Amino acid sequence: MPETNKLAENIAAIRQKIQDGAEKLDNSKAVYEFKKSFLDSKAGEIGQLMKEMKNIPKEQRADYGKAVNELKEWAVQLFDDMDVKLKEAELKRRYEKEKIDVTMPAVETETGNLHPITQIIEQLIDVFAGMGFEVYEGTEVENDYYNFTALNTPQDHPARDMQDTFYLSPEFLLRTQTSAGQIHVMENKKPPIKILSPGRVFRSDDDSTHSPMFGQMEGLVVDEHITLSDLQGMLDLFVQKIYGEGTYTRLRPSYFPFTEPSVEVDVSCFECGGKGCRLCKGTGWIEILGAGIVNKKVLENCGIDSEKYSGLAFGIGLERTAMLKYGINNIKTLFESDLRALKQIDDK
Ligand code: PHE
Repeated sequence: MPETNKLAENIAAIRQKIQDGAEKLDNSKAVYEFKKSFLDSKAGEIGQLMKEMKNIPKEQRADYGKAVNELKEWAVQLFDDMDVKLKEAELKRRYEKEKIDVTMPAVETETGNLHPITQIIEQLIDVFAGMGFEVYEGTEVENDYYNFTALNTPQDHPARDMQDTFYLSPEFLLRTQTSAGQIHVMENKKPPIKILSPGRVFRSDDDSTHSPMFGQMEGLVVDEHITLSDLQGMLDLFVQKIYGEGTYTRLRPSYFPFTEPSVEVDVSCFECGGKGCRLCKGTGWIEILGAGIVNKKVLENCGIDSEKYSGLAFGIGLERTAMLKYGINNIKTLFESDLRALKQIDDK
């Protein structure tokens, strides 16, 4: 039979042990382990004290039980308090560690931007859609008829020399101009017609301002009483939107087989305002596109009454427009995909 005194000493010793041990604990996991070594109902030291109960003389059992229970409650409370404190401290430490300074400049994320040619296409569509134009996209492989013959440029016409052509066969070729789309549209649609046709065209030509593949944007309007002044009015609006408010156009006589009269269109120099500078080579004017009044023969080739209707057409070079607008002097910049160059042109 265990001596009651011994047991009382035991209880006091355990209490002391808990007190001493607890002081050294600095994290909740250690508290959990330490707590288990006392409070586990089987292996814990307080648990063991409970088991002694059966060996205690009956008359002392109540006191003994009470003392052990007190010890247990005291220990549970102590560990709970410690837990709370340690958890708080741990949270505080975590917050310290994860603290972010919201006033720090953010790390910039890389964003892409549209290719300058795509930007130009979107801007042009925007300008002309505002004037009621619809977009028609033709095909890059055309036959000779649509690219030349129907455009009043029959076989052996000297004007075919203006466009060095990639022939795929005697009949098929890579279109040299988006003008080919004019014929498709006029064959399929009755006037009034107002279309804009962007796309790639191909010519055997290659230097710092020419590429064998480049982009054009065709415009075609067919209706009653269409004249050159309609053309100039639209183009004035176009240059103001693309090259700046103060710019305007001038028309110079030119030649295309499919327009009569034909004009070369210049924009007043947007760099020097017309005084003369390096960009306009001292002339105050920059050549930007070819245009004209649709040749009656072309209307007739498409079954359109050339007495009742007339049309205007223009062809804008996309690379040339981008080069002028963004000050690019080598057309290859637009094909090389060098992000250092392309990223500088973000013209939304
Ligand atoms: N297709 C002509 C070219 O590529 C441009 C043009 C289009 C001229 C429409 C007149 C009318 O050079």
